[in-house]
Amino acid sequence: MKGPDEGRDYIPYLANIDSSLFGLSVCLVDGTCFSLGDAAHPFGVESISKVFTAALILKQLGPEAVREKIGADATGLPFNSIMAIILENHSPSTPLVNAGAISACSLVEPTGNFDAKWAAILQNFEDLCGSPVSLIDELYRSESATNFDNRSIAWLLRDYGRIYDDVDLSLDLYTRQCSLAVTAEQLAHAAATIANGGVSPTGGKEVLSADLARKLTSLICTVGFYQSTGDWLYRTGIPAKSGVGGGILAVVPGVMGIGAFAPPLDAAGNSVRGQEAVAALGEELGLNVF
Ligand code: DON
Repeated sequence: MKGPDEGRDYIPYLANIDSSLFGLSVCLVDGTCFSLGDAAHPFGVESISKVFTAALILKQLGPEAVREKIGADATGLPFNSIMAIILENHSPSTPLVNAGAISACSLVEPTGNFDAKWAAILQNFEDLCGSPVSLIDELYRSESATNFDNRSIAWLLRDYGRIYDDVDLSLDLYTRQCSLAVTAEQLAHAAATIANGGVSPTGGKEVLSADLARKLTSLICTVGFYQSTGDWLYRTGIPAKSGVGGGILAVVPGVMGIGAFAPPLDAAGNSVRGQEAVAALGEELGLNVF
């Protein structure tokens, strides 16, 4: 069966990443950062890219347009679920699952211009991460050759009027953004920016308004770990988003951002040791937002 698994073998590139890597980084809203292990090791951002592009379209279109055109609801189902689209009245539900993220890429402005859309996505990544990001070509080629589920999702959404630009262009942008390299340190910085009401804790630049930072955190909270989001929140009380590259971005509003990286995944596609590390930190420091 195709899907997230311990071997990460549904994306061939990821199956070859050293499974012993582990990095953890914390960035406080005052800009103080702490890191350990492989926190500076670049890896595929994968689904955490969905948070970045959700931020971008929230800025470009506003929160009501995002809710109307994509949705802001949990699915409770796997990240690549076609069933979720059907069950939710042909809606992608949220920018933080594959369907909604492809739809989000179609919404990025300026419509119809791949290069300009990609430039906007990259700039937004850089603003949130506090430093530039670059494409992992091999990962991009690997995903492009095997993303049959996402191609199906994109065309299904096109049929349901949920793709707002050229279908292939939108899917390619999504695949590319998933193939960007980030580090746990960069994820911690991005999470700290969101936690800091949208203001970079190091550069002081306003990347998002405080209202949009809250909206983004609510999206992360409701669906960040797909079908195991509720279990995660019940256990830790920390809004967090995973990627099958082994990364986790966790937001503690008003306090800090956390970035974790450890490649082996659980059945929902979430980093096993990343979850343990963030949960342990949360327990130790009392980070439960509820
Ligand atoms: O589209 C995909 O299936 C991958 N590029 C990303 C999936 C992912 O990271 C799910 N997250 N845990």
